[in-house]
Amino acid sequence: MTDLVIRNARVMTCDPARPGLGMIDHGALVIAGGKIAWIGDDAEAPSAGYTIDARGRLVTPGLVDCHTHAIFAGDRANEFAMRAAGTPYLEIAAAGGGIHATLEPTRGAADDTLVELTRERIACARANGTTVIEIKSGYDLTNAGELRLLRCIARAAVVAGPRIVPTLLAHLIPADRAVDRDVYVRSICDQLVRAAATERLATSVDVYCDEGAFTLAETRAILTTAKACGLAVRGHVGQFRDLGAAELLGELGARSADHVEQISDDGIAALARAGVVAVMLPGACVQLRLPVPPVDKLRHAGVPLAVATDLNPGSSYSESLPLQLWLATTHYGMTVEEAWLGVTRHAARALGVEAGRLVTGAAGDVVLWKCNDPADVPYHYGANHVDRVWIAGVL
Ligand code: NIG
Ligand code: FE
Repeated sequence: MTDLVIRNARVMTCDPARPGLGMIDHGALVIAGGKIAWIGDDAEAPSAGYTIDARGRLVTPGLVDCHTHAIFAGDRANEFAMRAAGTPYLEIAAAGGGIHATLEPTRGAADDTLVELTRERIACARANGTTVIEIKSGYDLTNAGELRLLRCIARAAVVAGPRIVPTLLAHLIPADRAVDRDVYVRSICDQLVRAAATERLATSVDVYCDEGAFTLAETRAILTTAKACGLAVRGHVGQFRDLGAAELLGELGARSADHVEQISDDGIAALARAGVVAVMLPGACVQLRLPVPPVDKLRHAGVPLAVATDLNPGSSYSESLPLQLWLATTHYGMTVEEAWLGVTRHAARALGVEAGRLVTGAAGDVVLWKCNDPADVPYHYGANHVDRVWIAGVL
């Protein structure tokens, strides 16, 4: 493969060795063998290879979406309309909607259908600049069905497509298991988590610990088992109520605590102490009309902040990280710099993958934008500013 040289670019490296976003205003980079082979000032750029003149426009790392539920069938547009008219999410869920409404269409869909639907969503994400995407299971809720979803997630990867990071999600106690929920939780620990680890179908386990979902004790049981099986752990916590899960995630050394609209000062301190990433999901928060997380407190405690789509059929049906940049800056009070680090370097940290920064030796995951300032993307929101995307050096 010929080396690719991108010249005359405003390069956002997100290199932690440089301040802020690590901008190189008159920059260049070389991709060889699928990796960043050289990066620096344009004046010093090597000239060999196929050269692209960026004409002063922005070049960034490929975006990392660290929290999605991209595998599901069916849709819940009816619920969106009900919420728009004022009915709360939890009320719709209690009446049989919500996560439960996605179970039947997902369970009934053939493997090929699920793979195809997931690929369509990944293609949309890539068109919006995403080059690494985490995908959670969670819309079957039987052990065999959750393993089937994880196998379909593995099959959804395409050549030169975004890298997929698979997560097993304990999403909810299904209605028919409410009577023996202890047995259900035990089977998640003893069978599902162990099978996902043995078959290498997931690299982490996530539990939805909230009102109407798993209790703190159940979350502890599942995540402790996951850790013992060598899997990373994370949690959907405090979207509606703070059950003390942030403290638990800190104690377990989790990769991330996601949502955190409701979180105590002790919870924030626990995340900071353990270096757990807090994942902001403004698409779901704004759409469900929830109070925003305490971004200021998290920032001052030194908790790394990531930003993700939460792509799912209920609370946030969006593949676009640029739209989340807009929500993070306008609704969460994050700075432009914080929001960009949230969809690059900090998101990669939440996944434990090498991505989200342009440094020598990193994967050649690069986005060339049509604009030239990092603020342009959230500022001119809703327009797609992506010009070209390379994944491991492939256009
Ligand atoms: O992250 N909070 C739990 N799960 C999803 C919503 C899933 C759904 O409504 O289908 C979330 O927002
Ligand atoms: Fe989620």
